[in-house]
Amino acid sequence: MKFFVDTANVEEIRELMETGLLDGVTTNPSLVAQSGQEFTKTIAEICSITDAPVSAEVAATETEAMIEEGTYLASIAPNVVVKLPLTFDGLRACAHFSRINIKTNLTLCFSANQALLAAKSGATYVSPFIGRVDDINIDGIELIRDIRAIFDNYAFETKILAASIRSVNHVSQSAVAGADVATIPPTVIRKLAHHPLTDKGLKQFVEDWKSTGQTII
Ligand code: G3P
Repeated sequence: MKFFVDTANVEEIRELMETGLLDGVTTNPSLVAQSGQEFTKTIAEICSITDAPVSAEVAATETEAMIEEGTYLASIAPNVVVKLPLTFDGLRACAHFSRINIKTNLTLCFSANQALLAAKSGATYVSPFIGRVDDINIDGIELIRDIRAIFDNYAFETKILAASIRSVNHVSQSAVAGADVATIPPTVIRKLAHHPLTDKGLKQFVEDWKSTGQTII
């Protein structure tokens, strides 16, 4: 499963890219608002750090305006993926971008039917929001499983991008359920490597090594 980082914070992206763990970046209007930075400049800056896919979301809600904004966003760098809401207007804009080979990410997906429509419109990625589905007492991971089964049944090429990831368990469960990508907040990425038994074992190794009085170099 690929890892994207879900943030508009350029410094976080730069730091996490150095780990070699990241395969892409997603942003959304809420994350841009949190960063306090100018949107299109931020996208250009992120694209100067990485050639990996960078999702940039349109602000418009009607097809023609989405196409206009998406075309502009795609002109910023070749790795920009135009992020569109999963509405009928968004699907029409998606079909347009798909015809001219501009990559898309259909966001705010909460049902298997919506994912099916995204795939039929030629979306590159569809983003089921598993945390927000869990928030209303429906199993977000079950949604990933259903979408995986549908896409496999009909050999759709649209990639399942598990979004609204809130915990380390969401990451492993998304991988088990067959998501192609998970977009993960930086705080959760940092927690993935942590295990108390690793810390305990390492402490012991350090103490035992010291007791040998040896050095490697
Ligand atoms: O990728 C979408 C994500 O940013 C939404 O996450 O936690 O606001 O539901 P959340």
